[in-house]
Amino acid sequence: MGSLVVPPAGVYRRSGIHDPALRRGYEACRRATRATGEIEYAVSLLLPPPLRTAIWALYGAVRAVDDLADAPGAAEETGPGRAGRLEAWISAFDADLRDGRGSDPVRQALIHTMLTWNLPPGFLHTLFEELRQDVHGRQFATWQEWRRYNSLINTPLVLRAGSLLLRVAGLSAEPEAIAASVPDLAIAWQTTVDAVYLTDALVDLSDDLDRGHVPLPQEALDEAGVHRADLLTRRATPAFDELVRRLTDRARTWLDHAPLPPVLHPAVAVALGAYADLYRLRLQAAANAPAALLHRRPALPRNARLRLLLPVRTKAALAWALFPFPIQPGPPPHPSPTDALDAPDSPDSPRRAEQACVPAVEQHAATLPPPHPSGARPPQLPPEAMPRHVAIVMDGNGRWATARGLPRTDGHRAGIDALIDVVHGALEIGLKHLTVYAFSTENWKRPADELQALLYEIPQAMSRMVDQSLDVRLRWAGVRSRLPADVVEQLLQDERATRDRTGLTLTLCVNYGGRAEITAAAAKLAQEAVAGRIAPSSVSEHTFARYLHVPELPDVDLLLRTGGDQRTSNFLPWQATYAELLFLDTPWPEVDRRTLWDAIAEYARRTRRYGSVPRIPTQPALPSGHGAPTP
Ligand code: IPE
Ligand code: IPE
Ligand code: MG
Repeated sequence: MGSLVVPPAGVYRRSGIHDPALRRGYEACRRATRATGEIEYAVSLLLPPPLRTAIWALYGAVRAVDDLADAPGAAEETGPGRAGRLEAWISAFDADLRDGRGSDPVRQALIHTMLTWNLPPGFLHTLFEELRQDVHGRQFATWQEWRRYNSLINTPLVLRAGSLLLRVAGLSAEPEAIAASVPDLAIAWQTTVDAVYLTDALVDLSDDLDRGHVPLPQEALDEAGVHRADLLTRRATPAFDELVRRLTDRARTWLDHAPLPPVLHPAVAVALGAYADLYRLRLQAAANAPAALLHRRPALPRNARLRLLLPVRTKAALAWALFPFPIQPGPPPHPSPTDALDAPDSPDSPRRAEQACVPAVEQHAATLPPPHPSGARPPQLPPEAMPRHVAIVMDGNGRWATARGLPRTDGHRAGIDALIDVVHGALEIGLKHLTVYAFSTENWKRPADELQALLYEIPQAMSRMVDQSLDVRLRWAGVRSRLPADVVEQLLQDERATRDRTGLTLTLCVNYGGRAEITAAAAKLAQEAVAGRIAPSSVSEHTFARYLHVPELPDVDLLLRTGGDQRTSNFLPWQATYAELLFLDTPWPEVDRRTLWDAIAEYARRTRRYGSVPRIPTQPALPSGHGAPTP
């Protein structure tokens, strides 16, 4: 029962949030939630620490952004006014997300939560896009318009928070996917969100009027006979009382017609029940003193609130004690990037969270990479412009050698020197993940001398390089089948030896095929389903990714191929769906770290939209470069 009354420091500890800067971010989110979302805060206290902190981060961060867009009196601001502040926040968020860390405390907490729970960023982008437009105020003519806006903008955020709760019940599918297969549930969710937003529109009315906004559909005003001008001048009329009566009735009906999903964990059901009841109380407070809504936000009546919450707290604590919280997230890969070595042991736990259970202790003194012989230094890029994960198809060795009258194997050996230099350059520029395609499942078609060079010499060279105490963690992605046992042994040994290094994660794709990786994941999932350990209806992208060769490999930001061909040849199809692609004519043996740096600079100039709409850039364009082969 004690879990519901833990002070914040204990909550963070039990959520695996140890970094002081990160805690500050969560604290800011907690305070914002408490100050602006009394009900959400009260309900968060009914949840175990990891869920509680996640709710604070989502709610608090969105409120922080909302405040930027809504800052009172900012409508007339120009230049670095509210639109500019909002834009800067969103750009920084995109960059932070790419980088896996936050450059301000609130963003840091939000991104930590998104990584810990593997939340896709799409719902935030939709929300941000609307906030941009809200800067100019928004009017709704009809209820239909008002509800549509809600379903597009507010529902995805609420559903995302809801999906965290559903995961406790073992449902890890995306809420939209659940909704698609259970239409009744989708309607119930939508109706709840509408009730919550209508209630909040009423209780926040005076704030909105301060900014000259009327957050209600014109249709509702017309039905009650309220004139917009009266509202804006805060005239309390009988028509306004009538409006409040109609709106509170409507919201109450919506709340009453939104049944809870039947599959919930009992404690989650208690929390959601309390959420609806607290909203009923808020509606009651609004209905009791309609005219006051024109001037201030009504407080929840203290006694009624306590009467409601006291038994609920006991019930929730009891339910958590009887059915303990099944998930134990730890810190995500950033700012202490320690990826788990092994596949997750419980299919219910968040992928990101688990990898962090490996201690982040750096046990060796890392040496610096040798400088490039030309003296070249990496470009200075703002951290938010850096890709987090670069993947490379190192192609063109054979043609490079043939063009020089050399055997193709010489091309592969020259390619190893190129790879070593690129790894040094990746360390110098501070890249976190580099994944290279060393041998594909299709490459078995090659002659024996090439197989020898590719299969033995690349892993051996990488092994020697990491022996030199560079801060490189080696991973292997691929399948054992057909691989010589000593190669497998060496790859596994290198993984073990470097598992505590935190600088660059270098993933060698050896005997790797993208379709094979996806097929193997599907087969393992099917096995789990047949064994009754996972429900097919609960399989989400998030669940699926946990069965890939290296489950914690982040999405590829930049996929580079040398050698002149423009194809991906079965490389990382799952991870690279949203990667920026860059094809260079340079054959791989002619590449060095400067090619990587140029490619990263080119990446930094690109605009990633993830299906959203283009934005006006907030920063002057980065210096242009050619992004083409260097030497
Ligand atoms: C890539 O170079 C080497 C690997 C398969 C790792 P190639 O050997 O494919 O060179 P080209 O494409 O024939 O020039
Ligand atoms: C891709 O290069 C594989 C690696 C670099 C390991 P390939 O040379 O094998 O690809 P294709 O044959 O051009 O598609
Ligand atoms: Mg090739």
